[in-house]
Amino acid sequence: MRTIILMVIVATAMVACNQPDNSSTSSSKPSSAVDQRVDSLMALMTLEEKIGQMNQYNGFWDVTGPVPAEGDAAMKYENLRKGLVGSMLNVRGVAEVRKVQKIAVEETRLGIPLIIGFDMIHGYKTMSPIPLAEAASWDLAAIEKAAHIGAVEAAAAGISWTFAPMVDIGRDARWGRVMEGAGEDPYLGSKIAVARVNGFQGNNLADPLTIAACVKHFAGYGFSESGRDYNTVDIGTSTLYNMVLPPFKAASDAGARTFMNAFNVLNGIPATGNSLLQRDILKGKWGFEGFVVSDWGSIGEMIVHGYAANGSEAARLAALAGSDMDMESYLYVKELKGLVDAGKVDVALINDAARRILKVKFELGLFDDPYRYCDEQREKDLTGHPDHVAGVLDMAKKSVVLLKNDGNLLPLKKTGQKIAVIGALATDKDSPIGSWRGGADANSAVSVLEGLQQYTGNQYNYSKGAELVTEPATFLMEVKINETNKSGFQAAVQAAKNSDVVVIVLGENGFQSGEGRSRTDITLPGVQTELLEAVAKANKNVVLVTMSGRPLDLSRESKLVPSLVQAWHLGSQSGNAIAQVIYGDYNPSGKLPMSFPRSVGQVPIYYNHKRTGRPNDAGNGIVFWSHYSDEANDPLYPFGYGLSYADFDYADLQVSQPEKGKVVVNLKVTNTSQLDGEEVVQLYLHDIAASVTRPVKELKGFEKLMIKAGESKQISFTLGEAELGFYDNEGNFIVEPGEYEVTVGGSSVGGLSTRFTEK
Ligand code: NOJ
Repeated sequence: MRTIILMVIVATAMVACNQPDNSSTSSSKPSSAVDQRVDSLMALMTLEEKIGQMNQYNGFWDVTGPVPAEGDAAMKYENLRKGLVGSMLNVRGVAEVRKVQKIAVEETRLGIPLIIGFDMIHGYKTMSPIPLAEAASWDLAAIEKAAHIGAVEAAAAGISWTFAPMVDIGRDARWGRVMEGAGEDPYLGSKIAVARVNGFQGNNLADPLTIAACVKHFAGYGFSESGRDYNTVDIGTSTLYNMVLPPFKAASDAGARTFMNAFNVLNGIPATGNSLLQRDILKGKWGFEGFVVSDWGSIGEMIVHGYAANGSEAARLAALAGSDMDMESYLYVKELKGLVDAGKVDVALINDAARRILKVKFELGLFDDPYRYCDEQREKDLTGHPDHVAGVLDMAKKSVVLLKNDGNLLPLKKTGQKIAVIGALATDKDSPIGSWRGGADANSAVSVLEGLQQYTGNQYNYSKGAELVTEPATFLMEVKINETNKSGFQAAVQAAKNSDVVVIVLGENGFQSGEGRSRTDITLPGVQTELLEAVAKANKNVVLVTMSGRPLDLSRESKLVPSLVQAWHLGSQSGNAIAQVIYGDYNPSGKLPMSFPRSVGQVPIYYNHKRTGRPNDAGNGIVFWSHYSDEANDPLYPFGYGLSYADFDYADLQVSQPEKGKVVVNLKVTNTSQLDGEEVVQLYLHDIAASVTRPVKELKGFEKLMIKAGESKQISFTLGEAELGFYDNEGNFIVEPGEYEVTVGGSSVGGLSTRFTEK
């Protein structure tokens, strides 16, 4: 019997290969030939086997969620053999993937291959900067390439599906997961979401060097109250439709094959059990044809949320709401058959979910060759390939943001300088890899000191100053920070005194951001600010390099130093990238994708906020306007801000309206300096009066371009209805007549403005 069925499957797969329209592209609608093959396979499957496709287990070593109970491994192997597992996550490396795939293909009744998922978030072995850092590049081609590099290495390691891109809008720097996203803006976030989907999936999902994308976390997770991870989300529909959903829609439109739902409750309904999100919007309005995986255990967590009374109800509610695959709750495989038999879940829902999952497996070519991701030679050849190293170095340089450079202290002279290099992070080879580090080896990044030492014309004197952590940090455990030990301060101060320039590297440990890593205090952890104070007293020429997975409150530090370089966690090539910026071999071009606050009390702080009825101080000291009595309203460094060693001048802003719903904006940007440099020209719109109030500014266009010293470039933006309109509170996209203000500049603050009226 098994042989006959396997022959049918193989024949089905062969049809897959021979169909002329088997394009399996990620960007185009999947061909009906795939649907037919799915149908013929479905006809052979029992209800249990279909439910089995909806079941995903964690592998046996990496753990990226609550640690499962003892004895699970035996149960998982048993269910795998019974054909009750459709997917596994955290199984990686060709040898390991082959082992589990072999069981699925050779030991189960139907031999349906597994889809192997993994959090390849910013690289697999050769690490790119954390996603928030990459977003600071505003360079879509570089971001797509970085995603592609990660996909190639992951695919070579047996992985067919990444749980990325994370497209949650992040306005709250306390939330540790802002490091995984593209920041606070839905327009930039949408463009980056598409770049990442394309980078992972390429033009042909059946290519063994592309993998399926998973857009997450659907939806609202970035709005967890007070930035505490997994916390409640309660937001209005205006925010949901205009801020949260656009990057998800863009990724779905770009052909992302899978979505992941979220841990949070959204307006009282857990995202995992949310039909409005998954059935009405995603699979309904947007026509998404892929499948939705739950987040780790999130089906079971609906019980804890107080939404489902027990496991059976949780499974029923999740299935009804459109969660197609259960990650690590074990509830679908346990409960769904009984629920169908009892008439509580329509079998049509199971068929739909299984069909969606199988379709993606067909598109990946897994039925054609279940071991297509399992080539040991390819794994050897591609892991850490020199082209990948060059690619992540390029990405890292583009991700650096120069925040301050008084008196042009930077770039540093390449010869004859005595340079004190200070700070535990200056020699740290682990923190730059950041959180969600895929299969990266610990301590594998180039440190800042190593990067600087490539420039041999100067002398370097390293002094740690203070430890940042008291124990080596890990993915699973809280990071232990040194809050007291200042015994190294004196030596650091001495080194600063004896040098021409100080490069001090301070910030967060690589594991201080990421999942489960919220902070109430977003200043530099431990004794680092005190160290900086001591060093800055000893030497005025201080370059502060900050590493972090989130915007930090740098209000004290920025006053102490002439030069401030935001270096995030830049991945494997971190130190080389930072050194090239410091020495001017790369002219910094990054712009902040998230506002840097003056104080945690301002958080959440974001540029595209609404106006209040009392936005301005009347100037007579009366308190009744929207403000803080102890701090300014604006951020320390705003969204879109970032300096270059070059200077740019904006002029000749002109607007024309060739037809209704179309606006053309022209301007000239001149590099007035003697250095070539790149500028991110940003266009913001403000709809002056609308039926639902609009933000004071919204990014609606940008272009990153190289402008040579002394050169002027003419730039043109065309705005259409997509840029002029917005979502009303029912989720309808509308364009209203009326006046708009358009502003163009190199940041969300300042620039040239004019107005136009849309008829
Ligand atoms: C939980 C996280 O929220 C999600 O982003 C991740 O993909 C899964 N764990 C799997 O590791």
